[in-house]
Amino acid sequence: MLAGPSHASLLAALHADCFDESERWGEAAFSGLFATPGIVAWIVLEGESPAGLLMLRQGADEAEILTLGVRPQYRRKNLASRLLETGCATLETHGATTLFLEVSVRNDAAVALYLKLGFALCGRRKAYYPDGSDASVLSYDLTSVTR
Ligand SMILES: CC(C)(COP(=O)(O)OP(=O)(O)OC[C@H]1O[C@@H](n2cnc3c(N)ncnc32)[C@H](O)[C@@H]1OP(=O)(O)O)[C@@H](O)C(=O)NCCC(=O)NCCS
Repeated sequence: MLAGPSHASLLAALHADCFDESERWGEAAFSGLFATPGIVAWIVLEGESPAGLLMLRQGADEAEILTLGVRPQYRRKNLASRLLETGCATLETHGATTLFLEVSVRNDAAVALYLKLGFALCGRRKAYYPDGSDASVLSYDLTSVTR
């Protein structure tokens, strides 16, 4: 389902379950992001239960993934894939042509997910994260999304 400012608390709860303490975004962070241009977010449900989140930002023909996570008990059920498919289709209908993201080179699960979905490696940022790890920059050609 689409998420908006009224879901900031739920988004923060989902984020807390998906990320280490040092990486968590609180309710105020989500509220602040919704007050900025180009934000679109979804919560994926497993049955009735909120299971994961995706937040994107679009500016003209480019977009970026701000955050993506699935609660541990709901992983490997294609929920992140579904979130990304929904996000990509929406961005494409809104005129975006390329979707970018940064992911730690140590995040094997996320890197595997993005490569499986057709994202391509396009850069590397040295010591990008607080733990000193590099980020891989990946991109996805949204013009390849089939309607
Ligand atoms: C990365 C993450 C979002 C994946 O969510 P998910 O719902 O489990 O992903 P999916 O079920 O859609 O996985 C699709 C494919 O991605 C790959 N993949 C996902 N998790 C994987 C893992 N732990 N190890 C290896 N490959 C993995 C597999 O190819 C998988 O297909 P398969 O299950 O048929 O083998 C989830 O592990 C997560 O929330 N991690 C913590 C937060 C995070 O790192 N977010 C990304 C920041 S950029």
